Amino acid sequence: MASAVLTDQALDTIFRTARTANGWQDKPVSTELLRQIHDLMKFGPTAANSCPLRILFLQSQEAKARLKPFLMESNIEKTMAAPAVALLAMDMQFHEHLPFLFPHTDAKAWYAGNDALIAETAFRNSSLQAGYFILAARALGLDCGPMSGFDAAGVNGEFFADGRFKVNFICNLGYADHSKTFGRSPRFGFDDVAKVL
Ligand SMILES: Cc1cc2nc3c(=O)[nH]c(=O)nc-3n(C[C@H](O)[C@H](O)[C@H](O)COP(=O)(O)O)c2cc1C
Repeated sequence: MASAVLTDQALDTIFRTARTANGWQDKPVSTELLRQIHDLMKFGPTAANSCPLRILFLQSQEAKARLKPFLMESNIEKTMAAPAVALLAMDMQFHEHLPFLFPHTDAKAWYAGNDALIAETAFRNSSLQAGYFILAARALGLDCGPMSGFDAAGVNGEFFADGRFKVNFICNLGYADHSKTFGRSPRFGFDDVAKVL
């Protein structure tokens, strides 16, 4: 059966009119909705179904206060106001789960002992999954504010002290206050970035 094409409205929600949030309405995000994001994004493809993304959601003011010292100054106010903050991290021992996630072959053996391949695979595939996360959140009516402006070593020390998980980037979640959204920046056209051979 052919996959259905999304409606124009759905494409707008996920891509064309979706904007990066820079401020938030005072409207909570339920834990159920956070679960729904995961229940969609988990189906996005990863190498050998490795699924290296790990998510730590911060919702309480106490949890967000632990993050605050590590944020770039310009990211503090909006993050403290966000109804939820996702620390999008990667499991640096993701291959331990491959007997479960990719059971038809010994994929764990491809990675075991090869730290460079583990790091490359964890970063590439957790970044992909973080992209799926943003699109899933948008599909569920949420807005996202992804950020890489923070002290990663500090965040890792505070939230992932045993060293197994490493933060990739952070994503604020909620319902945007669009009076604070920046003007849309230009995008490349197809011919600027793509070629067909
Ligand atoms: C991985 C990543 C890191 C980002 N880091 C920051 C950041 O630290 N602070 C910030 O204000 N915006 C940050 N942004 C937001 C981008 O500037 C924004 O998504 C981009 O300009 C497109 O905006 P638009 O979605 O409204 O078109 C980041 C976005 C991504 C995807």
